[in-house]
Amino acid sequence: MSEILKAIETRSSTRGYTEEKLTKEELDRLILAGLQAPTAANRQEIHITVLDGSNPILAEIENEKNRLRGLKDLPHNFYFEAPVVLLLSGDKSFYWSQVDAGIAVENIALAAEGMGLGSLIIGCIKDALTGEKEAYFADALRFPEGWGYEIAIALGHKAVEKEPHTYSVQDNVTYL
Ligand SMILES: Cc1cc2nc3c(=O)[nH]c(=O)nc-3n(C[C@H](O)[C@H](O)[C@H](O)COP(=O)(O)O)c2cc1C
Repeated sequence: MSEILKAIETRSSTRGYTEEKLTKEELDRLILAGLQAPTAANRQEIHITVLDGSNPILAEIENEKNRLRGLKDLPHNFYFEAPVVLLLSGDKSFYWSQVDAGIAVENIALAAEGMGLGSLIIGCIKDALTGEKEAYFADALRFPEGWGYEIAIALGHKAVEKEPHTYSVQDNVTYL
């Protein structure tokens, strides 16, 4: 089986990371995988904000998410203490930004799998980043002017293993 098919088949969400940092080469490779993703009309509008897992802005995002949801004292933060979180933002006025961000984040997830690393795609902070504090977070995260949060991905070395999800060709595919 080709390496890309193997990565697609074996990738799963990682919700537990070791404390081992990513090397600069690993991080650069993952970022490139995001930038190498196709974009509608080749706009290449997806912007990546790179955050070390210790960056205090991540705790602010976590607190805002929990405030909006009325939650507290959760066992893990939204990125499961991963050493790196990438936040993908896109042009809010561009029709395809959400799709482009989804393609880019999956490119990064598959690259991580191919490199033996774990990843977790993160959508649960969307309300926190697009709500009443949107401008504050957009500024703190240095999104380009007019860009908004699309999706995030946690990355690091796996501390836990999880089987890939199951699926049904019968339920989800129609042959005409
Ligand atoms: C758009 C999107 C948003 C997601 N958001 C979260 C999230 O906020 N937290 C989380 O733990 N997992 C999140 N996930 C991971 C899914 O729960 C996971 O992909 C799904 O359960 C299938 O499991 P697998 O990735 O291990 O195959 C998200 C996945 C996608 C595609």
